[in-house]
Amino acid sequence: MRPPATLTDGVVVLRELREDDRAVVLSTMGDELVHTWLNMPAEPRDADFDSLIRAAREGRVSGDRIDYTVTEAGSDVALGAVIASRRARDNYEVAYLAGAAGRGRGYMTRAVRLLCEWLFQEGVGRLELRTHPGNEPSQRLAERAGFQREGLERKSIWLHGQRQDAIVWSLLPDDPRYAREAPKGV
Ligand SMILES: CC(C)(COP(=O)(O)OP(=O)(O)OC[C@H]1O[C@@H](n2cnc3c(N)ncnc32)[C@H](O)[C@@H]1OP(=O)(O)O)[C@@H](O)C(=O)NCCC(=O)NCCS
Repeated sequence: MRPPATLTDGVVVLRELREDDRAVVLSTMGDELVHTWLNMPAEPRDADFDSLIRAAREGRVSGDRIDYTVTEAGSDVALGAVIASRRARDNYEVAYLAGAAGRGRGYMTRAVRLLCEWLFQEGVGRLELRTHPGNEPSQRLAERAGFQREGLERKSIWLHGQRQDAIVWSLLPDDPRYAREAPKGV
């Protein structure tokens, strides 16, 4: 699998993480909402960005992790990230996060859709997501991106040093997509 350098729907552009994203990415890592729902360092440092950019580069080479930076078309500022990680049986697990400037605009749903459509084009047969039961914005995004809720996995994720329950979501290539959107042009 060779992820293209960019993916776009004309509104958002997904591109690779770059060295000059360091300051904005460290700020996103330290964002309160991001820190609430993801295992980010309490005080992100340069070494955290170094690890991230290394993981993104190595993941692309091995195919185990496809990591895209989310930007707005015409801007190039890193607003967030979408990541697909290869799991057992060639399932891919999708994750996402955005800083305050990237939230509340529909950009992350667009980014997740782009990544999912590309993975399906590449022949992936099952995409998964795991959300914390308390993370309502993430669940709304999963629904907007067409994921179906499968059930609760008990104590299956680690958050801030504790095992927590997770809602499991999946999207298959033939699933109806984006069914929950209001029809346009009516
Ligand atoms: C999960 C997360 C990425 C969702 O971000 P988001 O901004 O809510 O998602 P989108 O970019 O798709 O934006 C959709 C929101 O923008 C609103 N919006 C405003 N203008 C819009 C427009 N023109 N088009 C579409 N949506 C618009 C939508 O109503 C929606 O808000 P709602 O869910 O309250 O109704 C964000 O909350 C986040 O980064 N959280 C911290 C990290 C995290 O929890 N990651 C997931 C771990 S499982």
